[in-house]
Amino acid sequence: MLATALARFPRLDLFAAPTPLERMERLSRQLDRDIWVKRDDATSFALGGNKVRKLEFLAADALRQGADTLVTAGAIQSNHVRQTAAVAARLGLGCLALLENPIDTDSPDYLGNGNRRLLELFGAEVELVDNLDDADAQLQAAAERLRAAGRRPYLVPIGGSNPLGALGYVRAGLELAGQIERSGKRFAAVVLASGSAGTHAGLAFGLGHALPGTRVVGVTVSRPQAGQRPKVEGLLQGIGTLLGVPVPEVDVQLWDQYYAPRYGEPNPASWTAIRRLAGSEGLLLDPVYTGKAFAGLLDGIERQSFAEGPLLFLHTGGSPALFAYACPS
Ligand SMILES: Cc1ncc(COP(=O)(O)O)c(C=O)c1O
Repeated sequence: MLATALARFPRLDLFAAPTPLERMERLSRQLDRDIWVKRDDATSFALGGNKVRKLEFLAADALRQGADTLVTAGAIQSNHVRQTAAVAARLGLGCLALLENPIDTDSPDYLGNGNRRLLELFGAEVELVDNLDDADAQLQAAAERLRAAGRRPYLVPIGGSNPLGALGYVRAGLELAGQIERSGKRFAAVVLASGSAGTHAGLAFGLGHALPGTRVVGVTVSRPQAGQRPKVEGLLQGIGTLLGVPVPEVDVQLWDQYYAPRYGEPNPASWTAIRRLAGSEGLLLDPVYTGKAFAGLLDGIERQSFAEGPLLFLHTGGSPALFAYACPS
């Protein structure tokens, strides 16, 4: 029923699915724990990551509406903006990005390297803003300016996280459920970074239908759980309404002790996690999202916060941002 409902929504084919589900052999041996990774860092488009799954639905909608420009917003080092700009380039659309500097840095690498450099290559127009405290209104105003200039803008919300974008992760949830079933494993938990929440809500929705009872832990990267919970729950409801499918029973679990000092600023545990995975598996996490989420997974093992059984980390990408931050030695 869920797959049929999903199939009613137009979707572009922007990367090769399914992404791999792999056992992390050396790390599992080192920690004496069976740990697997779902490689959404390896979505095969514009250096990978989770956002392309959402953009498959959002960009299809933009084309259906006859848009000629994708308008979005995010941090200067946003992976979401990088992937939106790449999709626009692929489709022959313009891209306007409103960018903020959430950590108030004047580091040349932050301001010009990593994801920001790639925006130049994809030909995005960039407007720097003081902050994105009222992002929806700021995006609307930017769209209005484009319309006045005769263009046809399509608004992509921050992180691509509206119910339509989150369908990308409902689909990923079904894909992952099939892989889990074929693996014959019973995972004790799936751990992921929870930011604008479309990835978390979509995955929980898809898994909640296909493999009910699967524990999903969202490690917050932007805010305390009191602010994050309504985002995840609101999107779960929104996805249900959009699809016309009942919202599955989902226990929204949020761990919020790993994102300090704030969104966009790494901490010692996230650098340790990044080094650990790079050094044991040759896999690259990122300083803003997956480094913090993986720090949560490692700490959860340490504190015995998971039931027995294998663990699964959803790697949502982000490694281009490694070139924007100095890694402490
Ligand atoms: C690498 C990476 N991981 C995780 C996330 C969080 O996904 P979401 O915003 O859907 O919660 C993002 C969002 O930008 C991201 O870039």
